[in-house]
This record gives sequence, C-alpha cells and structure tokens, in this order.
Amino acid sequence: MSAFDHWDALWRIGRDTTTGGYRRFAWTPAELECRQWFEEEARRRGLEVERDRNGNIWAWWGRPGPSAVGLGSHLDSVPDGGGYDGALGVASALAAIDLLKARGAEPSRPVALVSFSDEEGARFGVPCLGSQLMTGALDPARAVGLVDQEGMTLGEAMAAAGWDPGGLGRDDTGLGRLSMFVELHIEQGRGLAEDGAPVGLASAIWPHGRWRFRLRGEANHAGTTAMDERHDPMLSLARLVQGANHEAHRCCGVATVGKVHVEPNGTNAIPSSIDAWLDARAPDEGGLDDMVEGVRSAMAQPLAGGARSVEVVQESYTRAVHFDDALRDRLRATLGDVPVLPTAAGHDAGILASRVPTAMLFVRNPDGVSHSPDERITDDDCHAGVEALARVVEDLACR
Ligand code: GLV
Ligand code: MN
Ligand code: MN
Repeated sequence: MSAFDHWDALWRIGRDTTTGGYRRFAWTPAELECRQWFEEEARRRGLEVERDRNGNIWAWWGRPGPSAVGLGSHLDSVPDGGGYDGALGVASALAAIDLLKARGAEPSRPVALVSFSDEEGARFGVPCLGSQLMTGALDPARAVGLVDQEGMTLGEAMAAAGWDPGGLGRDDTGLGRLSMFVELHIEQGRGLAEDGAPVGLASAIWPHGRWRFRLRGEANHAGTTAMDERHDPMLSLARLVQGANHEAHRCCGVATVGKVHVEPNGTNAIPSSIDAWLDARAPDEGGLDDMVEGVRSAMAQPLAGGARSVEVVQESYTRAVHFDDALRDRLRATLGDVPVLPTAAGHDAGILASRVPTAMLFVRNPDGVSHSPDERITDDDCHAGVEALARVVEDLACR
C-alpha cells in the first residue's frame, strides 16, 4: 500500500487523452469531480468537511477552531497542465495526515486542509480567486461578474454548480482560524535538482500580473485587400510578442503572450480584433512596472498597417511576497539544512502571506517543467515530500 493510493482516482479526472494534459477549469464538470474526490477522501478519514463562502473546501483534522495550522493547495489546472501543480499539495496533505495517524500522533491544535478554488485563473482570467476573495484582495462585485470565453459569469458558473455566489468576499472569521499556513508544491524550476535535494523551502515570490491587450483592426478580404490598405491587428500582435520579449530581457524579468483570441479567426480574412494576454513577472515591483510600461509604450507607437486602436487592461497584479522568516526557520529546524529558494510562480500561499505567517515546501522537479503535460516528479520524491510535510505538521500541531 502506497501513501498515494488515494491519488489513483484523481489521476483520471480531467485528463485529455490526446495530450496527456489536465483541463480542470474552475466550476467545470472535471473540476467539480476533483472537489468531490477531495471531500470524499477527507470524509473517509473522519475529517470534518466545510465549504466556505469563496468556493474553497476545508477539511479538519481535530475540531474546527482557532489557532489552526493550515495545509493545502489547489486542484484546478492550466490548459493542458501537469498532474502535480496543485494536486501534489492536496494529495500530500491527506497523505501526511495518514502517516501521522499511523504513527499514533494526535493533533494538539486543529489542522485545516484547504483546497483553494481557481488558483490558476484559467477560466475567468484572475488567478488565486479563492484566496484573493477570502483575504479581501479581490473585490467580490468584480469577481462575480468575471466572464469566461463563452460569456458565462463566475456567479453563474458557481450557481450552476450549486454554490451560492452571494457570499463571496473577505472572510475574516474563516481566515482568522488559521495561525499559519504551509503549502507543499512541486517546484517549477530546477533549483532543487541542481542542489541534489528532494525538498526545499520558498523564500519569496516574484511580483507578477496579467494584462489584456485589445487590438482592434478592420476585417477584410485576405486576397483582395492591398497591403497598404490594411488595418491588421495581427501585425500589432507581432509587435506585442516581440516587445514583451525585448522588455523582459531588458528588465531581467520574464514575459509571455500565452493566450490570444482572434476574431473571426479565418484563414482568408484579416482579423477584425484580437485579444492577447501578457503575463509578466520580475524580481521586484520596480522592474515589473518598468517592463510593462516598456511594452505599453511600444504598443502606443504608430504602426503602419497595424491595429486601429490598442486598449490595455490590467486584469491582475500580485505584489512581491516574502515568506515569514520565523516560520521558515522553524521548518528548517525540523527538516535540516534544506535549500531555500525564490520562485516566479504564483501560489495561494503567497496571497495568504499578507494576512497569516506562511511557508512553502517545494518538492524536486527533475526537469523543471511545469504548466505542461511533461511535468513530472519521482515516486521517491513524492514520498520525501509527504515525510517532510508530516514532520512539519507533527512539530507545528501535534505537540
Ligand atoms: C500559477 O501557477 C502561476 O504562476 O501563474
Ligand atoms: Mn500553476
Ligand atoms: Mn500551483
């Protein structure tokens, strides 16, 4: 029997059989099945399950109450995501409780396993929806009206899934029960592989954000419109992609145009408009702001034959996160001299860090690949992660 037997059922949920990637978008049938898996696994262990106002699911080891130690991550995915980003943290939290129970440990303070809603923001555009709403970082009126590609709002999607969107918003009572939060996550880089270490701890998260560029052109015939009579937003998109790449190099950051929506998307038609999303990240906020300003000003320059208008909307912005030094020192005392590294990936733990002492445990990713069907991790390292998390929980909550 493996510590991860309970994970078997999760592996098949939302997996595209052609690409091997996961498509678990918030409030879709696949993601609802993941939620059901978590609730059933929690109940099977005798944990009390609770759904909060913001779409997050809590499972309690010990009586729900104050001074709790929070664990967890998320079960949704990016388009064609790997099987570990998010799911490893949730499955490991369950496995760590199993391990502690098998060793006869009892919680002396409550332990809350939290599966956060819509961490990736793949469907409604804004990441970490569940944690941002709970902490008050996101206005509930804005959240409820966010629309997916089909024009369905978050409020409608939640209601269709049987959840009440009326209670969305800052939840000091719910959050106030956590005295600290520890998220285990697959590392999304090669830092631990290069250090030869199966687990490590996070120091910080780079500031990052998403910007939507709406490029409006003029639809016309691809064969009969002379080259100097066009208003082609695709040309502006090319400038956006090049500009983002250039600015990222200049500012020592990273920038990606990973999603575009072309209207009407015909081979033999000049597009009428394009929406393109810029994801930008940098080591500090000054660098990030400088980089995005550089892209904006490149897009504001006249471009012969390009879009007639360019409109930019900032859809999300997450400030730099520095995880709690005291909590990290305590985890290091438990785990030994494990590597401590920053990341440019966003996490619910980063959002909670503004309100609660928070730490992250990373598990080695041999190739560093993530947000891809090729994301992988070895069984031994999965077990090393669970063992590390169990030791941390034993130290924080079982003495
Ligand atoms: C989430 O994984 C992000 O970093 O975008
Ligand atoms: Mn992710
Ligand atoms: Mn994640």
